[in-house]
Amino acid sequence: MSVAKKLGMPPRQLAEKVVQLLDLGDIAGKVEIAGPGFINIFLNSDWVARQADRVLNAPKLGIAPVEPQTIVIDYSAPNVAKEMHVGHLRSTIIGDAAARTQEFLGHKVIRANHVGDWGTQFGMLIAYLEKMQNENASDMGLSDLEQFYREAKKHYDEDAAFAERARAYVVKLQGGDQYCLKMWRKLVDITMAQNQLTYNRLNVTLTEDDVMGESLYNAMLPGIVADLKAKGLAVESEGATVVFLDEYQNKDGDPMGVIIQKKDGGYLYTTTDIACAKYRYETLGANRVLYYIDSRQHQHLMQAWTIVRKAGYVPESVSLEHHMFGMMLGKDGKPFKTRAGGTVKLSDLLDEAIERAEQLIAGKNPDMPEDEMKTVARVVGIGAVKYADLSKSRTTDYVFDWDNMLAFEGNTAPYMQYAYTRVASVFKRAGIDESSLTLPLTLTEEREIALATRLLQFEEVLTTVAREGTPHVMCSYLYDLAGLFSGFYEHCQILNADSEEARQSRLKLALLTSKTLKTGLDTLGIETVERM
Ligand code: ARG
Repeated sequence: MSVAKKLGMPPRQLAEKVVQLLDLGDIAGKVEIAGPGFINIFLNSDWVARQADRVLNAPKLGIAPVEPQTIVIDYSAPNVAKEMHVGHLRSTIIGDAAARTQEFLGHKVIRANHVGDWGTQFGMLIAYLEKMQNENASDMGLSDLEQFYREAKKHYDEDAAFAERARAYVVKLQGGDQYCLKMWRKLVDITMAQNQLTYNRLNVTLTEDDVMGESLYNAMLPGIVADLKAKGLAVESEGATVVFLDEYQNKDGDPMGVIIQKKDGGYLYTTTDIACAKYRYETLGANRVLYYIDSRQHQHLMQAWTIVRKAGYVPESVSLEHHMFGMMLGKDGKPFKTRAGGTVKLSDLLDEAIERAEQLIAGKNPDMPEDEMKTVARVVGIGAVKYADLSKSRTTDYVFDWDNMLAFEGNTAPYMQYAYTRVASVFKRAGIDESSLTLPLTLTEEREIALATRLLQFEEVLTTVAREGTPHVMCSYLYDLAGLFSGFYEHCQILNADSEEARQSRLKLALLTSKTLKTGLDTLGIETVERM
């Protein structure tokens, strides 16, 4: 319509010209001009059928090879000697879905777990670990990290000698003292070993090899500060080293100062993120860097990256993207907490998910053998927690609600997992091998055409998720697909179809649906079972 306006031509007339020149091969069944000048293109169902047939037999469901990029994905990033909290849960789940999706498309993914493993608190933590070791010669106290941290802090606040020792240890640690480094390593290792158990339980692909904590960048920091000074970007201000950014204003309307080195010589979270972006480009060879961090850190990242760009550490051709997310809220609309108001321990949350799923599954399948039940409960319970998060647009806050996430109706993990078992069972009940489906896929019924057309959009959905880092787009697609399958299944006889052609063709559609559901759920990190 806007082109017609520019050409000073009636839109319908332009539409006719376009249609005359259109060469869509056999993709379109019918092309018509409607209303003030719309061009409606109707897909040719024979073409759709041929594509569906091709995709069914192609590797990776026929998705076209991509030009592989190196994509660094920063996610999870818990803190040492602290329990993982709900914010880390969101980052972990969404980031992992992003990593799986990019990898499935054929990109090289580097998982970067930016663990909070450095800072002044380590003096206190080392002093406390030492105290514990002296007293009972065991590190068991660390099994409850939250408790450990609290106790360390208490000693620090109440015991002057302890506090002094703690302060001395920070200095020694920063100076590379062997004993302090050894104690620090122990704290990191114990924390990450515990977090690894959580990752495994969550079916998250992170491993200990993906840890690239804040400390990794320590050696780069003095050079960065010196370089920013040399480039005239950083200046001394009241003893600290500061970069003033015109892009951001402080409350007086003056350029905002971002401290990169404190008066006492210490570096900051921002300094580390500047070094880290540089490293990801220079050393890891990133084409894209995706950061899954909650939205409250947006300004922090923007400041760090503004400095990174000004200093020329990462060229504009490499994108630094903040894929932010909102908070997880309780049913009361307030940040998710325990009844007593404390942080919810992730392991407790997962225990509860599995327990609830077990009740649900046991109620529906009283005869299911015990060990199968355990497996299904785990897959459904963990799936429910993950899917509840993944299915919502990540940019907003969301309400964590057990009943909703475990419902068998609606866009939930149990519904999707159940839909998969149903689709898969149709094919299995036929008791035939995939390879015996030799007749071509054909589409006659409206519902077959609708299902097949949607199946062909899988690649487009994957591409969107990969570009925007929005797994909820995949969730809605799969949910939609499950609905279309139900419609097809209710209206079109599969095993008792009128002809062998129709029977095979419909089996093929069912098979492609089950493969697409499974592959889609895989990219989200959601497991499936064969019955539930
Ligand atoms: N450890 C940080 C936190 O708990 C998250 C780190 C995110 N990644 C980054 N490159 N800053 O808030």
